[in-house]
Amino acid sequence: MRQEALGCTRCPLAATRTNVVFGVGDPHADLVLVGEGPGRDEDLAGEPFVGRSGKLLDRLMAEELGIDRTSCYIANVVKCRPPQNRDPRPDEMAACRGYLDRQLELVAPKVVVSLGNVATRALLGTVDGIRRVRGRAYPLGGAQLVPTYHPAAALRSGGEVVAEMRADLIRAKRLLG
Ligand code: URA
Repeated sequence: MRQEALGCTRCPLAATRTNVVFGVGDPHADLVLVGEGPGRDEDLAGEPFVGRSGKLLDRLMAEELGIDRTSCYIANVVKCRPPQNRDPRPDEMAACRGYLDRQLELVAPKVVVSLGNVATRALLGTVDGIRRVRGRAYPLGGAQLVPTYHPAAALRSGGEVVAEMRADLIRAKRLLG
């Protein structure tokens, strides 16, 4: 599937990407993190969450879960960078959705953490924002979905949002057992 995705032209983002950012980590992980889509750094590197947001995510995972990115799996709703980091459009998310659904099927994690509004709405099928839905877990196929903020929001907003992200990661850790 990765090979197929690397040549994907299902949506207009194919025309402007540098690299397809398919996903990274342990394909048998109990924990999957889902972001929105690649930014500039990720587009250049071909790997999710390698920029400033990713550094914060790495730190919070280390501090709250005691793991690094090699022992979970990280993917995005769209695999190619939306120009100027705009939100992915519904048609782009729809065109890319099969990849994420198959990734979740194949990895078959116990816990999925959605990072931010775009990933949470896509996975939960809701229009509610992250502030409203976070603080609990939701069934997602055979897994539990734990919605939390996007690390970019934590970088922008600071203390309280970071604290709530930490609480969400602790919730994920409890569900991982
Ligand atoms: N933001 C995302 O949502 N995903 C990435 O991979 C990087 C930044």
